[in-house]
Amino acid sequence: MSAAAPAREFWSSRLGFVLAASGSAVGLGSIWKFPYIAGVNGGGLFVVAYLACIALVAVPIMVAEILLGRETRKAPVGAFRDAAGGSRGWSAVGWVGVATGAIILSYYSVVAGWTLHYAWLGARGALRSADPDAVANLFARVHADPGVNLFWHAVFMVVVTLCVAGGVRRGVERWNRLLMPTLILLMCVLLARATTLDGFGRAVEFVFGLHAQDLTARGLLEALGHAFFTLSLGMGAMITYGSYVARDEDVVSSSVIVSGLDTLISLLACLVVFPITFSFGLAPGAGPGLMFANLPIAFAQMPLGALWAAAFFLLLAVAALASAISTLEVVVAHAIDEIGWSRRRATLLLAGAIALLGVPSALSGGAGLFGAGFTDLTAGLFGPGEGKNWFDFWDWVCANLLLPAGGLGIAVFVAWRMGPAARERAFAQGSGYARWYWLWLWLLRWLVPLAIVAIFVNALGLV
Ligand code: TRP
Repeated sequence: MSAAAPAREFWSSRLGFVLAASGSAVGLGSIWKFPYIAGVNGGGLFVVAYLACIALVAVPIMVAEILLGRETRKAPVGAFRDAAGGSRGWSAVGWVGVATGAIILSYYSVVAGWTLHYAWLGARGALRSADPDAVANLFARVHADPGVNLFWHAVFMVVVTLCVAGGVRRGVERWNRLLMPTLILLMCVLLARATTLDGFGRAVEFVFGLHAQDLTARGLLEALGHAFFTLSLGMGAMITYGSYVARDEDVVSSSVIVSGLDTLISLLACLVVFPITFSFGLAPGAGPGLMFANLPIAFAQMPLGALWAAAFFLLLAVAALASAISTLEVVVAHAIDEIGWSRRRATLLLAGAIALLGVPSALSGGAGLFGAGFTDLTAGLFGPGEGKNWFDFWDWVCANLLLPAGGLGIAVFVAWRMGPAARERAFAQGSGYARWYWLWLWLLRWLVPLAIVAIFVNALGLV
């Protein structure tokens, strides 16, 4: 089959790859989730711990994923199979990755739909109410409204499909070249606005001040898990993007740049969100609803509030789009490589299937089977009052079980199973960092697996 297949596409340049990989990494995880978990964990030391997790655990795995893709030129299943000499067991790690990608995209698209909906509401001037109850009610209504959720979920999936259908260079790369600079620009504008608010100083203190007593073992593990999610690791997104990287490109420095950019945006997001939160007397530990239920209140009290609201939610939608593109690309590249489908066919059929898979997630905010019903059902698993609706359940399974499992598989494979000569050559090829090979290998062999096992132990409630 592969003899007849069209030649694999490559990124047009190193910048193209770095932008696409950054687009994958920077998403709802970086802009929405990071400020909220940093807030809940007391900022300061949590941020330091998170930075350590990125540098010591996540970057080595990112290098491993990109190298595996660059060496095999395949999406995850083919990459593991080829590199492991046809082993079915290792191909299974790739399969888990592809399945995880489909699941993540199915619910990620629903949240992305909220951001589109809010951008639309902002642009229409419908977010002008400064009454906290009204804004919270609006979110509760949006969250529970099947029609609104399904509509925006569908809109988002159509946009993702159109981007991916264009191919690696003319679709994925071209859109990222547009989306990433837009995102950085919008972020800078919002940051400039945030620095003029009274709460800016308090926000800086909150995020960067060291509150030693607030960092718990659980917070540390949360930092580690988030490092995976935010850099799109553990399901082969970086293997797939790596498979379009030219042989002589510097994977190590690209990984450092992508992780650095994602971290920078996460920190900037804190400096946009918390000054607003503090200036308008809102609670920093408000949790997942922070953005949707609280920020519109702040926007409504600012001059040109409708404009800021629209810009902020558009920024989130843009970030979510680039991440969703990478997730769909994993599944599409798999079908192209392994089944021999055309890109068009693979994109249309698989995006359609994933959109359908997302329907229960879009219905999770209500009282029905996938909402309150599922929460009751899973209370048996998580304990009374701790049940999760369909959406939260799958997010939990992916972030706490599937991604770490995939990351463990990738680390163990590259560090222990791949031939030493091929591994060292792959690492050194095109890289100015060849002398750090020993450190990378040591981290991948020992620290990374230990850290991931620690996440598992935590997720399964053993500590
Ligand atoms: N990294 C993205 C974010 O921060 C989410 C994401 C996109 C992702 N693709 C992924 C997470 C693949 C895990 C695996 O929002």
